[in-house]
Amino acid sequence: MKLKVFRFDRENEESHYDTFEIESLPGMTVLSALFKIQEELDDSLAFRYSCRGAVCGNCAMLINRIPALACRTRIEPLLKGEGKIKLKPFSGIEDTVSWNPENEVLVEPLPSLPKVKDLIVDMDKFFELYRTVEPTFKPVFESPKKEQLMQPDAVKELEKYTNCILCAACVGSCPVSGKNINYMGPAALAKLYRFHIDPREADAESRLMLANSKLGWWGCEFHANCKAVCPKGVPPIEGIAKARKEIKELGKKPD
Ligand code: SF4
Ligand code: FES
Repeated sequence: MKLKVFRFDRENEESHYDTFEIESLPGMTVLSALFKIQEELDDSLAFRYSCRGAVCGNCAMLINRIPALACRTRIEPLLKGEGKIKLKPFSGIEDTVSWNPENEVLVEPLPSLPKVKDLIVDMDKFFELYRTVEPTFKPVFESPKKEQLMQPDAVKELEKYTNCILCAACVGSCPVSGKNINYMGPAALAKLYRFHIDPREADAESRLMLANSKLGWWGCEFHANCKAVCPKGVPPIEGIAKARKEIKELGKKPD
């Protein structure tokens, strides 16, 4: 099988695709295939990873034009055309590139973030936007005298959003993030919603108002790519819709 891999070097701004032919082993993931290329064919190939177990979020990239974790995406099903998901159009890397999905896997960096080298993108802007939602717990009592029990339904709803591993796959697939680099984006908004609905938080309303603008809740166009690509099942679009409904019920207008 072949991997068609995007190559880029920020030093000279040059980009092209390299095709590598490797033996596909049973259960091989895209990340294992990239290691094989790096070890046996081209040690200059750059990609990011850490846990190799779908936990750290470092290895998100565009695989056959879908943002996904390389460590969790197996080659065999890709070549059989299994597990395809349909996304609304978003800004890709080189829209003109073609590949044969029956014997090739196309691997590119996540779009909407500045490219650094090959499959590595600069995550600074992603984390800058993430920090604008003040993503730390602000409890009512700093040192509660006893545990704060939560209703099972509240825990279930909260857990949908706490599962985020900050991989940025949702941002890479979001047409609004692709158009506007300052849009807070699905990951940051999902995190903000997570704190907003936490019953142990001190001031739910001020949390909600942190994103009461066109760069926040009101920038979303409900394409739903974020929910479709999230490797952890986080539904940013649902949190955004619920936040907007609450703001309307409070009678507030976007800033
Ligand atoms: S919401 Fe999902 S896709 Fe987005 S950063 Fe979190 S884990 Fe990744
Ligand atoms: S290497 Fe950590 S999520 Fe893939």
